[in-house]
Amino acid sequence: MTGLIERYRDRLPFADDDPVVSLQEGSTPLVHAPRLSERVGAEVWLKIEGANPTGSFKDRGMTCAVSDAVRNGAEVVVCASTGNTAASLAAYAARAGIGGAVLVPEGKIATGKLAQSLMHGARVISLRGNFDEALALVRQVCDRQPVALVNSVNPFRLEGQKTAAFELVEELGELDALCIPVGNAGNVTAYWKGFQELGHAPACFGFQAAGAAPLVAGHPIEKPETVASAIRIGNPARWEEAMNAFTASRGQVRAVTDAQILDAYRWLARNEGVFCEPASAASVAGLLVHGAGEARRIACVLTGNGIKDPQTALEQAGAVVPCEPVLGAVEDAILGAAA
Ligand code: F0G
Repeated sequence: MTGLIERYRDRLPFADDDPVVSLQEGSTPLVHAPRLSERVGAEVWLKIEGANPTGSFKDRGMTCAVSDAVRNGAEVVVCASTGNTAASLAAYAARAGIGGAVLVPEGKIATGKLAQSLMHGARVISLRGNFDEALALVRQVCDRQPVALVNSVNPFRLEGQKTAAFELVEELGELDALCIPVGNAGNVTAYWKGFQELGHAPACFGFQAAGAAPLVAGHPIEKPETVASAIRIGNPARWEEAMNAFTASRGQVRAVTDAQILDAYRWLARNEGVFCEPASAASVAGLLVHGAGEARRIACVLTGNGIKDPQTALEQAGAVVPCEPVLGAVEDAILGAAA
């Protein structure tokens, strides 16, 4: 196994002797989803991006952004984040031996992502504001200070993330539609770039949480709210590019409610054995609620691992079964599983 810069160097802006900061990201599983296929009446595949080293697709962009930062002599990388970019930055900065600082919205990032960012030694700054405010502030800091911004406004992030589209086309050949959650709108922009570079044009269907759906509303949302904290974003940085991807691919951007997201989240875990985080389930929720046109072969991008957000999982899952340490009690407790 290799990291994605090594795998796709001929299609990425890195020369043979450039420094590479990698944790062997990319090459993630593409899993057929038989029960989902049956429900939808089409062939549906799940791209399990939670299998990346830090548990989300962000590692694809981060290997490129941090490698480029190191090439340029950066000593500190920074980002604003709803959590996954922060965790990924922290890991790749640690790997590179440089400093990392992340600005996250106070109280609105999942526990696992916070733990990851802190464990990797990044400076975690809890902003009394939302993601959009954090991104605006961090952009200003980068104009004033010698620190490198690795949010998806950084073009190297998109370069790395486009490789997921390469993997889909390599494995599936023809693909009619892509279903993908949309927050800051970098990822759908990157997939579309990747598809175009290969001469492919699957319809891109983007899904936002109803309480944080600026692209659907057509204007920024000042106070975005959703249980899917990763996509709690009211003013996406890649607005124009994402809208272009939906239009040019004959796809659409639609909203799904928190209830629909949580239904898909629980259903996937119980019926396909795939545990993703709530934001990721927006892709499947969107497919179930809105469909994907006439598409026969569909890929849903599951952007992050379910274990990132244990709190939401425990709130949504069944209760544990208390039991005395007695054989009969244990037998009853176990056999109850068949009921
Ligand atoms: N899914 C997950 C799990 C995410 O963490 C994100 C974005 C998205 C989907 C949406 O991707 O922003 O490219 O449209 N998370 C960013 C972060 C904002 O800071 O971790 P997008």
